Amino acid sequence: MDTQTIVILDFGSQYTQLIARRIREQNVFSVVLPCTAPLDEILSYKPIGIVLSGGPSSVYDADAPAADPALLKLDAPMLGICYGLHFIVHHMGGKVRTAPKREYGHAEVILEDPSTQLFAGLPESMHVWMSHGDEALELPPGFHRTAVTSNALAGIANEDRRIWAVQFHPEVHHTPLGPQLLKNFVFAICGAKGDWTPAHFIESTVNSIREKVGSGHVICGLSGGVDSSVAAVLVHKAIGSQLTCIFVNNGVLRKNEFASVQKNLRDKLGLNIVAVDAGQRFLSKLVGVTDPEKKRKIIGAEFIAVFDDEANRIAKEAGGVDWLVQGTLYPDVIESSSVKGPSQTIKSHHNVGGLPEGMKLKLIEPLRDLFKDEVRRIGRDLGMPEEILGRQPFPGPGLAVRILGEVTPERIALLQEADDIVVTEIKAAGLYNKIWQSFAVLLPVMSVGVMGDQRTYAYTAAVRAVHSEDGMTADWAPLPHEVLKRISSRIVNEVRGINRVVYDITSKPPGTIEWE
Ligand code: XMP
Repeated sequence: MDTQTIVILDFGSQYTQLIARRIREQNVFSVVLPCTAPLDEILSYKPIGIVLSGGPSSVYDADAPAADPALLKLDAPMLGICYGLHFIVHHMGGKVRTAPKREYGHAEVILEDPSTQLFAGLPESMHVWMSHGDEALELPPGFHRTAVTSNALAGIANEDRRIWAVQFHPEVHHTPLGPQLLKNFVFAICGAKGDWTPAHFIESTVNSIREKVGSGHVICGLSGGVDSSVAAVLVHKAIGSQLTCIFVNNGVLRKNEFASVQKNLRDKLGLNIVAVDAGQRFLSKLVGVTDPEKKRKIIGAEFIAVFDDEANRIAKEAGGVDWLVQGTLYPDVIESSSVKGPSQTIKSHHNVGGLPEGMKLKLIEPLRDLFKDEVRRIGRDLGMPEEILGRQPFPGPGLAVRILGEVTPERIALLQEADDIVVTEIKAAGLYNKIWQSFAVLLPVMSVGVMGDQRTYAYTAAVRAVHSEDGMTADWAPLPHEVLKRISSRIVNEVRGINRVVYDITSKPPGTIEWE
C-alpha cells in the first residue's frame, strides 16, 4: 500500500520542520524536500498535496531560492505559507512588493471568505503569527483574496487550480487555530485518510526490513538511548535472531547502566545482546588526558575498535554480517538533504561512532523518517518501557566529559554516585520528564568542610539541569529549593569524597550544556 504523502518544499524557513510535524500529528505522512528538488523527485512521492514553506528571502533577491516555477503546474493541491504565498503570486502573474510596514509577531486576521475550504470551521477573525517583509500587491489571474489583517493581505485562493496561500504561519503555536487550518488542507482538500499511525508505521517498516534483509545477518550498536533502542526493537520484531546487538561498557556509563540496559532490552524485550565490558580498555587510554576534545577522540576511536572486533567475531559465528542498524532520525536527514536548498537549520554536532572498517556493511535506518517524539510513540506501541523511552539525552563520551581534568576510576565512582542522587531526586520530584537534561559534574576543585568534628578536604560537585528544545540553546532550570536541598545534603552525606555542591545557573549561550 502506498503511503499517502504531503510534500513540503523548504524555502528556508526556521519553521519548515514544524509544518511536517503538525501534519504528521494528524496521522498523515509528510516529507520535507529542499525547494530546489527536481520535479521528478517531488512526483516520486505521488504527493496528495504540496506545501510551499516560508523563507527569509524576498522573491526579488538575487539569491532567492531557485525553485522551479513549473512546480506550480503539478497536479496536486497546494498551500503556500508566507514566502510560499509570494512565490505563487510572483510566478503566476501577480506582483509582490516590499511592504511599507514589516509585520512581525502577533496579528489579528479577518477571514473574508469563510466559504473557502481552507477556512472551514474557523471563526471570522483569529490570532495568527506573522513574520514577513514582502506582501502581495496584485493577485495573479484567477485568484481572490480570502483574508486580511489591518494592514496587509493575509490569504489568497484559486479554488479551480486548487491553490491556497496564507501570509501567516499556521504551523507555529502562536497561531492557535493553525492546526485546524492544516487539517482542512490535508483532509478536506487533499483527501488524506489519516492512516499513518504507529501501528501502520511498524507494520510497513517491519515488512520492508524483512524484504530487504532476507536471510542476511544484521548488527546494531546499542547506546542505551532512545533511538538505538527503538531501532533495535523494530529490527528485532522483523527478523528476530538474525539481529545481534552490541552494547559496549566504555567505563564512563552512569551508575548501574550497563546492567539496566541489558535487563530492559535482553531480559524484558528478548533482544540478542552481546554486552562487552571494555571499561579497562578505555580507561587505560585515558590516563593523563585532560583535554576535552582528546577525551572525545580517544573514546570515539576506542569504541569503533571494540565494535569492530565484536562485529568481526559475530561475522565469523554467523557466517557473515551484511547489515548495520543505525538510529538516524529525520532532522539529520533533512539537514543533509537541505544542503542544496536554503534551509537555515543548525547542524547537530558531536556524533561519534562510525562504520566498522572494511566490513562493507549496508545500512538499515528504520527511524530515518521520524522525529524524536514520533520515535517515542513507536516505542510505546512496541511495548518498550518508559525507562528507556523517557530517558534524557546522554553524551557518547559519557561521564568522561563531566569529570573535569583527568578521568580516573576513583573520580568515575564519585561522579556515578553523585549523578545517581541527582537523577533519583529529580525523578522523585516528578521533574525528570519535564527537564531536557539533569546531571552532576565533578570538579577538580578541593575545598575545606566540616563533618561532625572532622575537617574534610574534598571535591566539589556541580549540579546542572536545563530546559531545551533540541540542545542547541538551553535555559538553566529553576529547580525547587526543596529538591536542591535534598540533592545537596544527600551528596555531601552519602558520597565520601565530595563535600561541596554548587548549582550551575548558566544558560546556553553563552555557556554550553556540558562542562567540557
Ligand atoms: P553542549 O555541551 O554542546 O551539548 O551544549 C549539547 C548537547 O549535545 C550533547 N553532547 C554530546 N553528545 N557526544 C554526544 O553524543 C558528545 O561528545 C557530546 N557533547 C555534548 C549534550 O549532552 C547536549 O545534549
